[in-house]
Amino acid sequence: MTLLDLSAYLGLGAVGAATITLLLGLLIALRYSPVRNWPHRRINIFAIHQWTSYATVVLTLLHPAVLLFLHTPVFRVVDILWPIHSPLQPKLNFAGAIALYLLVIVLLTSLLRHPIGRPLWKRLHFLAFPAAALLFLHSFLTDPNLKDGHPDLLDGGKVFVAGAFLVCLAASLARLRIRGKGLRPLALPKV
Ligand code: HEM
Repeated sequence: MTLLDLSAYLGLGAVGAATITLLLGLLIALRYSPVRNWPHRRINIFAIHQWTSYATVVLTLLHPAVLLFLHTPVFRVVDILWPIHSPLQPKLNFAGAIALYLLVIVLLTSLLRHPIGRPLWKRLHFLAFPAAALLFLHSFLTDPNLKDGHPDLLDGGKVFVAGAFLVCLAASLARLRIRGKGLRPLALPKV
C-alpha cells in the first residue's frame, strides 16, 4: 500500500465515521428511543455518537497528515493547515480543511456544552451540516492519485462517498419534515 492509498483510505474512513455521527445525531435530535422503537434494546446512542465523532475528527486529521511524508508532490505543513496554495486542487483541499476546522469546533464545543450553555452549543452544533457538505464536496471531487485533477467518479471510493452523501441528505430532509414532532409516540387524547 502506498502513502497515497493510505491517505485515501483514511479519508474514506472519515466520510464513513462522519456519516454515522450525523445519522446518530439526527436520531438523538428526533428523540429516537431504541427501547421504544426497533431493535427494542437498551443502546446508548449518545455514547456511540460521541465516540464516532472522535473517530471522525481523528481520521480527518490523519488523512492529510500522511501527505507530509510524500516525496512528490511536496506538501508543507502550511499546505495541510491552510491549503489555499497547496500543490494540485488547492480550492478543493481548502474546502476539506474548512470542514475539518468546523468539525473541531463542533467537537470542542460539545465537550464544553455545560459551561457554554445549551442554546449557544446547539447553534454551534448546526455547523455539523456545512462541515458535512464541504467534506462530501472535497471527498467526491478530489483526484486520489494527485495526478490531473480528474478523478474517476465511478471508482468504488467515489460511489461510497456519493451513497453516503445521499443517505445524509435524505436523513437531514426527513429531520426538517418531522421537526418539532420527532419520533415520540403521539399522546393519546384525554377522556
Ligand atoms: C464531529 C463531531 C460531531 C458531529 C458532526 C455531530 C453531528 C450532530 C448532528 C448532525 C446532530 C443533529 C442536530 C440536529 O439536527 O438538531 C447532532 C445532535 C446531537 N449531538 Fe452531535 N455531533 C458531533 C459531536 C458531538 C459530541 C462530541 C457530543 C457530546 C459530547 C454531541 C452531542 C449531541 C447531542 C446531545 C445531540 C442532540 C441535540 C438535541 O437534543 O437536539 N455531538 N450531532
